[in-house]
Amino acid sequence: MVYLAGVIAIATASQKGGVGKTTLCINLAYSLARRGWKTLLVDTDPQGGVGLSLARSTRAKQGFYDFLGGEKNINKLMLSTRLPELQILPTGQYDACARKGWAEAEVPARLADLLRAADGRGVDCVILDTAAGLNGMSEAVIKACDYVILPQQAEPLAVRSVPHMLETFSRFRAEGAGVRVAGILLTMVMPDNPISQKVVSELRALLPADLMFDQNVPRMNSFLEASAMGVPVALIKRNPPPEALVFDQLAAEIEQRTGLSQERQSSDNHASLLD
Ligand SMILES: Nc1ncnc2c1ncn2[C@@H]1O[C@H](COP(=O)(O)OP(=O)(O)OP(=O)(O)O)[C@@H](O)[C@H]1O
Ligand SMILES: [Mg+2]
Repeated sequence: MVYLAGVIAIATASQKGGVGKTTLCINLAYSLARRGWKTLLVDTDPQGGVGLSLARSTRAKQGFYDFLGGEKNINKLMLSTRLPELQILPTGQYDACARKGWAEAEVPARLADLLRAADGRGVDCVILDTAAGLNGMSEAVIKACDYVILPQQAEPLAVRSVPHMLETFSRFRAEGAGVRVAGILLTMVMPDNPISQKVVSELRALLPADLMFDQNVPRMNSFLEASAMGVPVALIKRNPPPEALVFDQLAAEIEQRTGLSQERQSSDNHASLLD
């Protein structure tokens, strides 16, 4: 079920774990918010990767699973950040909510409620992090979204897994989901490593150009540092390191691919440098 209103919902997904979904969600949400979009970052992974990366204290907070479990007041669940445009809905109390249980059949409607609530609060863009795998809750979340971004590690096995993953999304669409693939994003790319470079060129040769983001995410220690510090990579130093620009570039590509820029920005609201 896709909630067709102003807000654009984008999930990240992968079959394999550890490909960089959470890193992408945090850094992309930050870049979109810096670019002026009111952005809500939602952690649907029971492991709570977003919370673990940003602030361990979010473990004690209510969030996404509490909403699924029936908590109606979404204002109570959303966390503000230092960026006024960026809010976070953490995982919440997965274990407690799972014990009480929720009706599987109601999950699509609750997800639509969540997107409707975000839209009602003027959110432009919801970024949803998922647990690895394309089934269970991740499948429900993906199906509720307008777009999905597929991070792919630039490793030899990735080449083999992509067609199967794309078939899964075709099946989701055949089952009535409106979700579209915004693009495949190559992650952990090692510019000086010939094997990594070979995978990048093989994937780009194999897949239609419009399915691939132009931007790759390089493998860099700064992403580990950022995660240890609990910040997006742009905030690890006073001046953002060059790799932070990767996500600004990606945000610009996503604006184009999802129609975010056309839907929400009018061409005559540019600011002038001098009065
Ligand atoms: N571009 C990168 N360069 C170096 N390390 C990275 C990069 N992207 C992610 N990492 C690190 O790799 C690990 C896995 O990344 P991340 O948690 O984003 O993956 P994930 O797909 O969300 O994993 P999971 O499937 O377990 O949720 C983390 O320790 C993260 O800091
Ligand atoms: Mg994760």
